[in-house]
Amino acid sequence: MSYIDQIDLQRVPRHIAVIMDGNGRWAKGKGKLRVFGHHNGVLSVRDVVEAAGDLGVEYLTLYTFSAENWNRPKLEVTAIMELLISTLNKEIAKLMKNNVRLNAIGDLDKLPGKCHRELEAAIEKTSVNTGLTLTLALSYSSREEIVHAAKELVAKVQSGELQLEDINEQMFEDNLYTSGMPNPELLIRTSGEYRISNYLLWQIAYAELYFTQKLWPDFRREDLFEAILDYQKRERRFGKTSEQVN
Ligand code: IPE
Ligand code: IPE
Ligand code: MG
Repeated sequence: MSYIDQIDLQRVPRHIAVIMDGNGRWAKGKGKLRVFGHHNGVLSVRDVVEAAGDLGVEYLTLYTFSAENWNRPKLEVTAIMELLISTLNKEIAKLMKNNVRLNAIGDLDKLPGKCHRELEAAIEKTSVNTGLTLTLALSYSSREEIVHAAKELVAKVQSGELQLEDINEQMFEDNLYTSGMPNPELLIRTSGEYRISNYLLWQIAYAELYFTQKLWPDFRREDLFEAILDYQKRERRFGKTSEQVN
């Protein structure tokens, strides 16, 4: 029986976050340049986006480029930005066909102008869609996002719009880039690294973490289904006892 037949469709996570890691090692293992890995990683993105849509996942948030990734060799950074532009152009028709709404989080002003414009255009074009919300984390740093939220709240207190005593978790959440989205129930990281790398630190407070050795360009729909199955076998206790939960 394939994994998809074992999945309980009533208990599919509403929001799945993915750290797509291992493109460079995948390419190196084939004696190619790192960029070759990024190009092949796009094929995995396409497959996983479709699979998530098929299962009725509402939100898929992909770590595409971190704030720290700006420190990579200039050639690689440029190649990734160009790949982003060409991919947006190539995939837009498919996103429309599959009813996918594109979204982006991060310090988008840091993106090259053309990249930022194409991204905004694609977000605008797909804003009419009602299916999966696909969020790309680009030039993204979770700590930066948290500082940004803190500043927003401070500004509201300073202007008298908000009272200090009224600040609560919900309000903080409403000022994150992910405002309006449910928190991810499942976080997947590929490539055998066991770390979070400054991704959605606030939002994953109670997410189930799933790590796989697979390198991102080898990760396909079956691997997503396997991760969801693993998630469904877990007991989420949120601090309670097992007896309380059952
Ligand atoms: C993830 O793959 C893609 C980005 C971070 C842009 P890597 O490029 O980090 O690949 P490895 O981890 O070096 O193999
Ligand atoms: C995290 O991967 C960022 C993305 C997947 C876009 P990295 O490869 O940059 O993470 P580290 O540096 O190994 O922690
Ligand atoms: Mg990496």
